[in-house]
Amino acid sequence: MDSFEINKIIAAIIVTLIIIFGIGKISDVMFNVEKLSVAAYKVEATDDDGKVSLASTDNDVDISALLALGSVEHGQKVFKKCKACHSIKKGGGNNIGPKLWDVMFRPVAAIDDYKYSKALTDYKKEWTWDEMNGFLIKPSKWIKGNKMGFAGLKDEKDRASVMLYLNQNSDQPKELP
Ligand code: HEC
Repeated sequence: MDSFEINKIIAAIIVTLIIIFGIGKISDVMFNVEKLSVAAYKVEATDDDGKVSLASTDNDVDISALLALGSVEHGQKVFKKCKACHSIKKGGGNNIGPKLWDVMFRPVAAIDDYKYSKALTDYKKEWTWDEMNGFLIKPSKWIKGNKMGFAGLKDEKDRASVMLYLNQNSDQPKELP
């Protein structure tokens, strides 16, 4: 074996080492990028329903903090989405949906001359802040089988505001929690 051949062997070994370490480095970089993108995902404060953190657990909503985000004026605007189906005025009648004058803390499905779904009639609770909030996030999920054809209000300020507006449309608006 002459020195030229030894050189070739050494060169081959060096090239192999460079390739092995090179691939290691590249995969390191790729791995780091993946780790980063996972972390970036977790920053989102919504769960799989798109509910935002304040309202992420159905039974543990800080209602005073939520209501503090809203205003009656904004609620009046948001209520335009409900107007197609609901009257809110005192003495207003039923429409596609039941009349909503004085609805806060009214028992669920309490309007005699409105034909509710069985889901709502059987629900047997009243419209507390928690119930209204949960219902308005996603009506179809909160009371399964009800017939309110409305996707829901994902935005916390919209929801808080519309609840304040509902509360205001009453002879005796309830005290805020
Ligand atoms: C497409 C029509 C439609 C829209 C839009 C709509 N609702 Fe309804 N809503 C209904 C119907 C229908 C019912 C009765 C549901 C049942 O009986 O299952 C109902 C029921 C309700 C109830 C229960 C009332 C009771 O007497 O127990 C509340 C509260 C309510 N809606 C609030 C709202 C609010 C607030 C909005 C707007 C953010 C809204 N709805 C938008 C159709 C609608």
